[in-house]
Amino acid sequence: MPITTCVFDAYGTLFDVSAAAREAAGEPAFAAIAETWPAIAANWRLKQLQYSWLRAVAGAHTDFWEVTCDGLDWALEAAGIADEKLRQRLLDLYWELAAYPEVPAMLATLRARGLQTAILSNGSPRMLAGAVASAGIGAQLDATLSVEDVGIFKPDARVYDLVGAHFGCARSEVLFVSSNGWDAACATGYGFRTVWVNRAGDPVDRLPWRPAHQLSDLTDVPGLAV
Ligand code: LAC
Repeated sequence: MPITTCVFDAYGTLFDVSAAAREAAGEPAFAAIAETWPAIAANWRLKQLQYSWLRAVAGAHTDFWEVTCDGLDWALEAAGIADEKLRQRLLDLYWELAAYPEVPAMLATLRARGLQTAILSNGSPRMLAGAVASAGIGAQLDATLSVEDVGIFKPDARVYDLVGAHFGCARSEVLFVSSNGWDAACATGYGFRTVWVNRAGDPVDRLPWRPAHQLSDLTDVPGLAV
């Protein structure tokens, strides 16, 4: 079945999640993390995702903002940092993450071909609205779908169900694009055609399913949406 609908993960896929720590580290007030920010950003992301999976498995849902704050608190403590101003600055920056440079043109190409485009994200509706607005890509998206509509995080199938419920399309008509190997793999298991955006050249996740395609950035997504 031809692809009619291109659905994107948000954090790490359209929006650069390391941008918050990178930007704060460049500010004179936060010179203390000038060298260590990559480890803080990596731990922040890792713990944010771990907490999302653990809360889903344990049936203890809260929204993505809370797990984002919890992940940051763990990462700062692991780095030996207790600086409330830095914590607040990093959290503020998370509301205005930059989109990767190729995002606007890639979305415009999809839309010009008559394809539907959407975000499907763990992010809360308010977080996603902030990121979409600051990246200026709202006009290129038909929908921004949040897990808050089902109250559980990815990769629960109820999250992927939101796409068919919104667009009325079959699973095989959906190209699902994620920078998270586990998200792309589980979406393959669900029945979407998938793309893993593997910017870091990581090994493929050892899960029962594999992403259908791998790209090093988003530029060539339109070529796969056929
Ligand atoms: C999201 C996270 C998983 O946007 O990146 O859903």
